[in-house]
Amino acid sequence: MNEFAKHKIKEARILKIEQETPTVKTFELGVSLDAVPGQFVMVWLPRVAEKPFTLIKTGNTIAITVKKRGGFTEKLFQLKEGSYLGIRGPYGKGFTWNGVKKACIVAGGIGTAALLRLVEELAKNKASVDFVADFKTKSEILFKERIEKVANLHIITEDGSFGTKGFCPDFLMGFLKKNEYDKLYCCGPELMMVKVLELCKKFDLKAEFAVERYMKCAVGLCGQCCLDEWLVCRDGPVLSSEQLLKSKEFGKFYYLKSGKKVAIQ
Ligand SMILES: Cc1cc2nc3c(=O)[nH]c(=O)nc-3n(C[C@H](O)[C@H](O)[C@H](O)COP(=O)(O)OP(=O)(O)OC[C@H]3O[C@@H](n4cnc5c(N)ncnc54)[C@H](O)[C@@H]3O)c2cc1C
Ligand code: FES
Repeated sequence: MNEFAKHKIKEARILKIEQETPTVKTFELGVSLDAVPGQFVMVWLPRVAEKPFTLIKTGNTIAITVKKRGGFTEKLFQLKEGSYLGIRGPYGKGFTWNGVKKACIVAGGIGTAALLRLVEELAKNKASVDFVADFKTKSEILFKERIEKVANLHIITEDGSFGTKGFCPDFLMGFLKKNEYDKLYCCGPELMMVKVLELCKKFDLKAEFAVERYMKCAVGLCGQCCLDEWLVCRDGPVLSSEQLLKSKEFGKFYYLKSGKKVAIQ
């Protein structure tokens, strides 16, 4: 897509809404767009706000999967099939998987959405993939059938209601001791990603992480989404383990909408 077309807000009709879990919905949108797995679009609700979302489907129609959290997602959840919203993008740098024959994917909660198209691309390239996914509880498990078709899925729930009880990094430790991978990919809560990054360092494993920061322009102009010297909207959202190991802010600070720097809890 050329640069001019990419920045134009496209009017997108909501074709289908699927309730994935009690707190997560997938919206299929009537707009045609291609993107590398890991890239994102800006979704605009007039008179509400504009926020970034990863794509779980591209092509003649696209789809986003959204967890209900605050003001924007509450308004999005009120929309019905047939409503319209605005889409611009795709933006940012996606994942890379050239030459990867054996991969480990680590997902936490809604972070699974950012990794869904990646696991399917890896499978198309005949890579063998172990997909480790961490959810709070059984009813919050996402995309189980779609992932099981293309990868070895290991589900962890924090309350033990399905799969292994516990947290991703503890499970991953034993897993990385037993297996050798060409690359690891991760998306989830930032404090979980920090622990996964430490494990990658320990096991000398190359990795890519999809990082979240508050975004406004999404085109590298406003500086809102900075993480050390990088602008997450332009240089990310996918950043390498080499980059993040140098970071002084990853897992520690981010910037609120007002620009105020706050600690990640
Ligand atoms: C590149 C990129 C891709 C994204 N893709 C997706 C996606 O595919 N699906 C999706 O649901 N969201 C995605 N997000 C997050 C999304 O853009 C919104 O930030 C999120 O939906 C919250 O918006 P809100 O206005 O509803 O909530 P807010 O009002 O912003 O937040 C409500 C509450 O949730 C907390 N909160 C907000 N964000 C987070 C967070 N990341 N982790 C923990 N707590 C948080 C806030 O502190 C606040 O207490 C992505 C973000 C980025 C940067
Ligand atoms: S959101 Fe404006 S520079 Fe990234």
